[in-house]
Amino acid sequence: MASQISEASRQRVKANQLVQGMTIVEVTEMSFDFATLDTEKLKFVQTGYKGATAVITDQSGRMEIPIEHLKEFDHLQEITNIPAQLKLAKVVTGMGALMEKHGLLEFMVSVPQGVEIPEAAGPQQAPRLSVGSPEAQKRHEQKVEEVKQLLDKVETAETNRTKASSVVEEMLDIGRSGNYSSKGVESMVGDILSEGSTSAMKAIAGLRGSDQTYAHCVDMSVILQDCYADILSRMDKDVSPSTNRFTLTSGFMHDIGKSEVPKDVLESKERFAPDSQEMLLLRNHTTYGAKILTDMKMHDTIINVAHYHHVKKDGSLFTSYPDAPFESLRPLTRLASVVDVYQALIGKRKYKKNWVPGKAVEYIMNLAGSEFDEKMIEHFVTSMGRYPVGSLLRLSTGELAFVLALAPENYPDRPMVAVVENGQGELISHHNVLDLMLQEDVTVQEVVDHYEHYNESEDQAYRIFESIRLQ
Ligand SMILES: [Fe+2]
Ligand SMILES: [Fe+2]
Repeated sequence: MASQISEASRQRVKANQLVQGMTIVEVTEMSFDFATLDTEKLKFVQTGYKGATAVITDQSGRMEIPIEHLKEFDHLQEITNIPAQLKLAKVVTGMGALMEKHGLLEFMVSVPQGVEIPEAAGPQQAPRLSVGSPEAQKRHEQKVEEVKQLLDKVETAETNRTKASSVVEEMLDIGRSGNYSSKGVESMVGDILSEGSTSAMKAIAGLRGSDQTYAHCVDMSVILQDCYADILSRMDKDVSPSTNRFTLTSGFMHDIGKSEVPKDVLESKERFAPDSQEMLLLRNHTTYGAKILTDMKMHDTIINVAHYHHVKKDGSLFTSYPDAPFESLRPLTRLASVVDVYQALIGKRKYKKNWVPGKAVEYIMNLAGSEFDEKMIEHFVTSMGRYPVGSLLRLSTGELAFVLALAPENYPDRPMVAVVENGQGELISHHNVLDLMLQEDVTVQEVVDHYEHYNESEDQAYRIFESIRLQ
C-alpha cells in the first residue's frame, strides 16, 4: 500500500504566526503605510516574490499586474500566485519580524500536517515612563538635543515658509495660463528637506495665521509630511528620503485645482453661501485638481490626495465632496484630509477667531467616526500631541510657557516647556526650561489662546517663540 501523502491545509495567518514549515501562497494584507511603496520596499517585494502577481488599485479600480511591473508609490493591496520555490515563500524562523518590518502583515499559507499554528500575539506595548525616573531623565537629555536643533531652524523655517507660499502662488498663476509645472514645487521640496526644517515649519504653522490657499498649502504639507514620517517611525519603519519627498509634494499640490477658481473668488474675504455660484466653483477644486494632475502625469496617489481630500466618512455631510465612497481614499489621503481641516482651523483668521493648536487637536478628536477614519485620527493625535509644539500653556505655577517637545504617550499632559511669562504677567528674558516629566509638582492648567493673549500684535507669539534659547 502506498504511504499516505500528508495533506497540507490553507490558513490565513498574521506575520507573528508564521512558523517554519509553512509556505506562503499569498500576501493578503499590507500595513496602511505600505500602500506607498518606497524604493526599499519595492526592491524587497520584487526580489522576494519574483514571478508573483501584484494586485494594485488606481483611480480606475483594482487590477492585477506582474510584480515586475510594480512602480514606486503604487497602491499595492495583495501579492498572489507566489511561486512555491521562492526563498521568501518558505517560512523560516524569524521571518515574521522581517515581514512586519516591511509592512507585510497577513498571509495565506499552506500548512503541512503536524505544523501547529501559534496564537496571534497582541500589539507590543511601548515601555511606560514614570515621572522623575532615570528613564525620564535620559529621555529629557535626548529631547534637549532635538529642541536645540528645532530652535536653530526657526528662522530658516520662516524664510522657507514665505518662499514656499510664493512657489505655490506662482504654480497656480502659471497654471491659469495653461502651463502647469511641478518644477518649482520639486525644487522647494528638495530645499526644505535638505535643510531639515519641516519640524520647525510645523511648529510655527500654529503661531502664524495663514491665507486660505498659498500658506495653507505650505503649512498643510509640512504637517502632513512630519506626521506621516513620525507615524512610520513609531511603527519602527524606516522613512526613506523618497517617501518624504513624495508626501511633501502631495501636500503642496493638493489644492492645485484652485487655479481654476477666479482669483477674486479665491482671495475674497467674503463667506459664500452654501448654494452660491462661488461656493460651487470652490468645491470643484478637487475634480479640477485631479484632472490637472492627471494631465501632468503625476503619480496616482498624489492625484488621489487632490481628488478626495474633502470626502468625509459620512458622505452625506455638506462638507463632503465630490460624491465618492470613503473607500476611494488612499491612506495618505485619509491623513491629508485630517491635516487639511486641522490647518484650516489653526490658520484661518477671517471668519472666526483662530483655533490655537491645542484646542484644534481636541476639536479634531471629536470628529472621529463621522468625518474621519478613527485609526487615522489616533495616529494624528499621537503625532501632534495633546499640546502640540508651539502651544502656549498656563502652568499650575501661574506662569505661561511654550511647548518645546511633546510629552511621552503615557503622560500626554507632561510636555517639555519654556517659561516666557512669570505668574505676575511679566515677560521674562531668561526662558527657564521645565520638563514636566521631571517636575512632578508642576502641571498644565490650560491652553492659552496666544492670539487673544498677545492681542496687540499678531506676530508677538511667534517673536517670543523665535527668541527662546536653551542655556
Ligand atoms: Fe481642498
Ligand atoms: Fe486644502
